[in-house]
Amino acid sequence: MPQKSKQLLEESRTRRTYRQFLDESVNMDVIKNCLMTAATAPNGADKQPWHFCVVTDSEMKQKIRTESEKIEKTFYEEKISTEWQADLEKLNVNWRKPFLTEAPCLVVIFKEFYKILPDGSKDKNYYVTESVGLATGFLINALRNAGYASFTYTPAPPTFLRTLLNRPEGETAMMILCTGKADLSYELPVLKKKTLEEIATFY
Ligand SMILES: Cc1cc2nc3c(=O)[nH]c(=O)nc-3n(C[C@H](O)[C@H](O)[C@H](O)COP(=O)(O)O)c2cc1C
Repeated sequence: MPQKSKQLLEESRTRRTYRQFLDESVNMDVIKNCLMTAATAPNGADKQPWHFCVVTDSEMKQKIRTESEKIEKTFYEEKISTEWQADLEKLNVNWRKPFLTEAPCLVVIFKEFYKILPDGSKDKNYYVTESVGLATGFLINALRNAGYASFTYTPAPPTFLRTLLNRPEGETAMMILCTGKADLSYELPVLKKKTLEEIATFY
């Protein structure tokens, strides 16, 4: 047991956010297995309130990038606070989002708040954000285990994604997971992860 948990810890420590990807298609069977792993996550009342849109089509990726960059430009030029800007400096990020067209695969993750039933009534879901957050974590770890990097990106507001991907009114996009083989020439920012003492208290 301690051996297995130590092994997973060491493997998990190799996961980092790569912001550059190799120009190499993903294996769709692997992606499907990772999505089904995500779908094993615990969730409110077993309503499984998630939907994953897998985008490999270049035109659709370009549309997503164009809309995202429009939103980001406004955010960086008009809305961002000084503190937020300072926090982002070490990561060297700005309004340009080239990874949205460079990553071979985008998984757009939707939260399903409700479904419209044939009689017009709403079938509601519970703890949607918590459940989809858990599924996303499972997905990131499954992708890592399969040899794919992933980059979590959250355009705000994300409304354009529902329109572009033709999803129903009860769903809201939560994030885009850009995935593929990492470009190892990308210079990872040096980050200091918190220690056990900082993140946990034992009683
Ligand atoms: C919800 C969410 C949104 C994020 N958005 C961005 C983003 O817009 N741009 C970016 O470069 N990184 C983004 N990231 C990645 C984080 O910056 C990254 O996970 C963090 O710096 C820790 O680095 P690591 O993943 O390499 O451990 C996001 C991560 C999360 C969880």
